[in-house]
Amino acid sequence: MKKIGIFYGSTTGTTENVAHMIAKCLGVEQSDVHNTASTPPSATAGYDVLILGASTWDAGDLQDDMDTFLDGLQVIDLSGKMVAIFGCGDDSMSDTFCNSVGEIYHRLHDTHAEFFAPFNNDGYTYNNSESDIKGMTVGLCIDNVNHPEDTEVRIKEWCADIKQEIC
Ligand SMILES: Cc1cc2nc3c(=O)[nH]c(=O)nc-3n(C[C@H](O)[C@H](O)[C@H](O)COP(=O)(O)O)c2cc1C
Repeated sequence: MKKIGIFYGSTTGTTENVAHMIAKCLGVEQSDVHNTASTPPSATAGYDVLILGASTWDAGDLQDDMDTFLDGLQVIDLSGKMVAIFGCGDDSMSDTFCNSVGEIYHRLHDTHAEFFAPFNNDGYTYNNSESDIKGMTVGLCIDNVNHPEDTEVRIKEWCADIKQEIC
């Protein structure tokens, strides 16, 4: 059984709530859900699967706590670990929707982690997102501002993909 750790960066609590919803869906203990504001990157060592999530702020910037956390994580060798990414944003910020998801992906590119669990952004309207890479969305994007009714179903679908891929 692979051990899953969830690490999130959240300024107003939305990503935090989504992190806990993902944990419930995957049967991850609350003690394995970590706020990057108070967790060092070395805490990832005990996990086979890392689920990393953050919101997007300002003009498409990664949430501050996750930004600092990645400064440390991106220089650790993550060989053998699987990484799935999620993020929260607002698709009315149409040129930077959920950029955080793409930034986490890019920042960990050289760590040798195995990325998995891409998702689609069907139903969201935006012009541009760094989460879209080569025609694919590299993680789960949640817009709880304009489409809160979609949040739970998107999380359930994404978690089903994760369960299938890590078994
Ligand atoms: C000042 C401001 C700037 C924002 N910039 C973006 C953005 O560039 N792209 C985006 O997708 N969402 C943006 N958002 C929306 C937040 O990412 C969204 O509200 C998110 O759910 C916040 O999550 P958190 O509470 O976990 O930090 C912005 C929100 C505010 C208030």
